[in-house]
Amino acid sequence: MRRLQPALVLALLLVLSGCTVPGAGDDTYRPWVGQHGKDVMWVPTLDPLMLPMLEAAKVTADDVVYDLGSGDGKIPIWAARRFGARAVGIEYNPDLVALARRNVERAGVSERVRMIHGDIFVEDFSSATVLTLFLGTELNQRLRPIIAKMRPGTRVVSNLFDMGDWEPDRVVRLPDQNPVYLWVVPARVDGEWEVAGLPDWSAATLELRQTFQKVEGRLRSADGRAASVRGRLDGSRLSFGYRTDKGEARTVAVDVHESGFAGGLAPGEAAAVSGRRLR
Ligand SMILES: C[S@@+](CC[C@H](N)C(=O)[O-])C[C@H]1O[C@@H](n2cnc3c(N)ncnc32)[C@H](O)[C@@H]1O
Repeated sequence: MRRLQPALVLALLLVLSGCTVPGAGDDTYRPWVGQHGKDVMWVPTLDPLMLPMLEAAKVTADDVVYDLGSGDGKIPIWAARRFGARAVGIEYNPDLVALARRNVERAGVSERVRMIHGDIFVEDFSSATVLTLFLGTELNQRLRPIIAKMRPGTRVVSNLFDMGDWEPDRVVRLPDQNPVYLWVVPARVDGEWEVAGLPDWSAATLELRQTFQKVEGRLRSADGRAASVRGRLDGSRLSFGYRTDKGEARTVAVDVHESGFAGGLAPGEAAAVSGRRLR
């Protein structure tokens, strides 16, 4: 099904190409679906998908939402109007930027919404807490190295297009609508950690290998015991499981910060677990 979707979209584009969209544009400028854009053409996110996208990202008034390739500015405007967020659009086409700025004025959200005329591969969007995308799988993948370095916990939602082998944390599928993909930027935990607080593992080291939000590795004790570890990250929340010498399953959930982590055994066991990065 997912394989068919780009083809369906292409067919839709061919039908719609050259058409204006009711409600998009004003007397000064009326964009048309399929018009050339620097790296991708302009196609607006349809209204029924805007709320689900912003809701999937759990946007609140505390967020800074960036729409990369913001077209007529509808997503930043909705983020401000519906959720009270601060929002920024980055758009390469100057006519769309000018239209978006007029739309911002008309919507009465100038204090919270800014439109940048620029290239998403040049402009700095590192202050975003939420990113919205409707670009294409290839462009998403080109953005991936930049996104992966953003603050852990940053939510990224994409209309229709995935990010290749970076699996989404969630997919929202609504009848007759494009799928919405959500990723949460994971903390960087790859490396070796000294761990304290695990019952029966007094002086343990934890070696972790990370592939996006998935982690696996090995727990070793000073007296030579070892156990495999498997887990995942939800932003800076790391959960991992291992089996004790007696074969009991244990789950640890910790919050990762700059050079360490702290948390406990989950759920119901009181042990406090902490870690310090060794390398
Ligand atoms: C598919 S449209 C999405 C518009 C809007 N985000 C929405 O969902 O309604 C993609 C937009 O990206 C813009 N664009 C393409 N390449 C760009 C680039 N390198 N930098 C900034 N904007 C770009 C296009 O002009 C177009 O407006």
